[in-house]
Amino acid sequence: MNLIEEIKKYVEDECKKETNFFGVNIYNHHFISMVKYAKMLAKETGADEEIVEIAAWLHDIGSILGDYENHHLSGAEHAERLLKI
Ligand SMILES: [Fe+2]
Repeated sequence: MNLIEEIKKYVEDECKKETNFFGVNIYNHHFISMVKYAKMLAKETGADEEIVEIAAWLHDIGSILGDYENHHLSGAEHAERLLKI
């Protein structure tokens, strides 16, 4: 499994947990479409598609893990820890 597939699976698994306040549908209704549009924008703008896709998968991980209010900060910290493994 490559890095993007691993991250996608990780986000999907976290979305399925009962501790996810938003429910499992956020995976299909938010993450999937976010990644789709992020990839389109990366192509259009010449951004690094791998980095953009990884960022799109992880952009709301803080909320899924229970910190909606500060998810923009806690999610970034979590993503950093995750990507350093
Ligand atoms: Fe989002």
